Amino acid sequence: MGNTCAMRFTRRECLITMEIRQAAPKDFRILVSLTASEGWGYTEDDFQWFDRVGGKTLVAANESEIVGMVTTLDYGNVCWISNLLVKLKERGHGIGTEILSECMRLFGKRKSLSLFSYERSADFYEANGFKSDLEAYLVSPMGCNRGRSAGVVEAKLDGAVLEMDRACFGFVRPLVIHGLAEKGIILKLEGGGGFAIVRKDQIEPSAGPVIAGDRDLGHELLLAALEAAGPNSRAVVLERGIEGLNYQDKIRRLHQGAQPKIDLSMAVAFAGLELG
Ligand SMILES: CC(C)(COP(=O)(O)OP(=O)(O)OC[C@H]1O[C@@H](n2cnc3c(N)ncnc32)[C@H](O)[C@@H]1OP(=O)(O)O)[C@@H](O)C(=O)NCCC(=O)NCCS
Repeated sequence: MGNTCAMRFTRRECLITMEIRQAAPKDFRILVSLTASEGWGYTEDDFQWFDRVGGKTLVAANESEIVGMVTTLDYGNVCWISNLLVKLKERGHGIGTEILSECMRLFGKRKSLSLFSYERSADFYEANGFKSDLEAYLVSPMGCNRGRSAGVVEAKLDGAVLEMDRACFGFVRPLVIHGLAEKGIILKLEGGGGFAIVRKDQIEPSAGPVIAGDRDLGHELLLAALEAAGPNSRAVVLERGIEGLNYQDKIRRLHQGAQPKIDLSMAVAFAGLELG
């Protein structure tokens, strides 16, 4: 983590010198409390894991404290940014815009820079040159224990999973998929027509990516994955009105540069808000 992308700028309003650099492991404890203030529930392990799967966490720091952060995942053709956050008392002074500008400076020459935003923050990204291209929904299961459908089986990660993920989303991301599989379990449709990754996280259990060639079987797979992830599990889906789900929030995908690829006939759920 020693190789920083340090950049210095001076905030117009109060002439404090800020630096945007790559987070070091010693920063993770502070980032846990920064993100906890937003209710995001990350642990130091999550930041370490993110590092291991090829992610980078950037922090905006003045001389004495970290005042903002963002996480980035570079899939080669698409760079995904997430968890943009500025300390509450520091908001409205241009720090969020500066962090985004640094992401654009680092990754903007790639084909695409992409992110998920809640509706309430989408104006901020649009004001910074991002275009909305897709609606998605944060969902949780309705809670009735349905039991696993007969056609859904537990499986191992193999080349077919990586290939389906690439064909559906256009990302080549073996590190992320392996990292997710190590932390969770993989469910497949019998016959190989789809898969789901289940993250049995203590704090934020979730399901995704979920990909299937058949829409109804894809929904079965998603519900089975959410159930396997346990109570309070969530997923980011692309369709309204899937039976058995509570729709909690609307999300938008936004991008700069080329629009990220997605095969809507296969995509049921994204890997998550932070992973795309
Ligand atoms: C979104 C966020 C990172 C912006 O950081 P910031 O340092 O306050 O942003 P800036 O000071 O650079 O804001 C620049 C402009 O965006 C506007 N803006 C900030 N947050 C906004 C929002 N949520 N919606 C619309 N506009 C917003 C500001 O009013 C400002 O406009 P102005 O220049 O016309 O006055 C910050 O509000 C934050 O941490 N929010 C909570 C976490 C969050 O929701 N992150 C986004 C996850 S999708």
